[in-house]
Amino acid sequence: MKIVRGKAIDLSSEGKGVVKNGKDIIFVDGLFPNEEADIQILYQRAGVYFGKVKKLYKLSEDRIQPRCKICTSCGGCQYQQLDYQAQLKYKTKRVKEALVRIAKVNADVQPCIGMDNPYNYRNKIQVPFAKDRRGVVRFGFYKENTHIIVPIKQCVIEDKRAAPILWDIKLLLEKMNIPVYNEDSGKGILRYVLIRTSYHYDELMVVLVTTSLNFPGQRNFINSLVKKHPEITTVVGNVNSRKTNVVLGSREKVLYGPGHIKEDILGLTFEISASSFFQINPIQVEKLYNAVLNLIDVSKNETVLDAYSGVGTIGLIVAKNARKVISVEVNKSAHKNAVENAKRNKIENIEFICDDAGEYIAKCDEQIDVVIMDPPRSGSDEKFLSALIRKRIGKIVYVSCDPETLARDIKYLSDYYDVKYVQPIDMFPMTAHVETVVGLCLCND
Ligand SMILES: C[S@@+](CC[C@H](N)C(=O)[O-])C[C@H]1O[C@@H](n2cnc3c(N)ncnc32)[C@H](O)[C@@H]1O
Repeated sequence: MKIVRGKAIDLSSEGKGVVKNGKDIIFVDGLFPNEEADIQILYQRAGVYFGKVKKLYKLSEDRIQPRCKICTSCGGCQYQQLDYQAQLKYKTKRVKEALVRIAKVNADVQPCIGMDNPYNYRNKIQVPFAKDRRGVVRFGFYKENTHIIVPIKQCVIEDKRAAPILWDIKLLLEKMNIPVYNEDSGKGILRYVLIRTSYHYDELMVVLVTTSLNFPGQRNFINSLVKKHPEITTVVGNVNSRKTNVVLGSREKVLYGPGHIKEDILGLTFEISASSFFQINPIQVEKLYNAVLNLIDVSKNETVLDAYSGVGTIGLIVAKNARKVISVEVNKSAHKNAVENAKRNKIENIEFICDDAGEYIAKCDEQIDVVIMDPPRSGSDEKFLSALIRKRIGKIVYVSCDPETLARDIKYLSDYYDVKYVQPIDMFPMTAHVETVVGLCLCND
């Protein structure tokens, strides 16, 4: 395959080095600005070439030795070879540039808020299980854009409690002859294992994603696992028998314990079930929600809509300062968790709606003063955004985990709203991902 020599001039939104080669643009894994390398071109997509470093000539002064030996092949940690302060600098720059390039908004962007210890923060770990060519059971992460499993011993960004459990699951599967799933034939039992950990409580959930609700030896398997790891407080079975890349199926059964774990954020306690969204960084989430609280400063007589609300976290946290909160979430389990979370925290001035956020706001006839919106990576939609404009909502706080879709949505709002404040927060150290909180106010004219 073709090899070219080039120098990275920037980082792409996916954390790849951007190299200009004549008129061509090449995105290169593991190449940082100012570094020069021989680059092997791998493929072309949408007019852009993608490549990997064949030989590195000039190193960036921000380059460091990564803690994880497989970080270049696993593809999960695009920035592990970058000094942490440089990671934060590039994340701030990414947010700023997305707003200028896509939304045509030149806002002041605050420096990205980082972590004191940017390792072992992930509270959710999700790994596929499969047999390799020699018939050995493997678990790990999919190499980028493939279904090739890169085996892991201990991932440096996950909660340390996960890896020993995954290793014992592998040993038990082998010992008890429980077949792992084969993507080609569609046969086998265990597809994925998902582990959720609590930071504030000694609680840990294991979710076994299998092709059938019950499988031979299931009871023995769970008993042995829980005996070996008493830190496991609940085990949930999730059935996914479809040929799909989506990890969780829709059918679930609690196999051990209560079926959920608890977590605390800013003094409130939340229940989380297997398929509910929950912020994956338990330390940074408090900084994220504080940034939201600082922006809205709701008085007691305002009504807040918490859209895309997950298990109700943000809405429940702002409820003490608002007249009323309406919380809208489409996922049924998350909605159920949210209702329980209000009871658990004895918060009554909150109403939970299980619906599409756009559908709900379009038909809602209540006076809404403030909207907090935290949509998934793909961003919001025209139905929701056009309703914000139509209803002349005074204040919007937009929480986003994708600067490009955030900027796209801000562009949609920009004839009617001014961007007042932009605060990136590093929820995902060692990766190219960044969370952003944006405060928007209705223009006066
Ligand atoms: C990024 S999460 C934010 C959750 C919550 N605000 C938090 O901080 O934990 C996005 C949430 O939006 C929900 N969601 C996705 N599409 C939706 C839609 N069209 N309407 C309402 N909720 C949606 C997802 O199920 C998920 O819980």
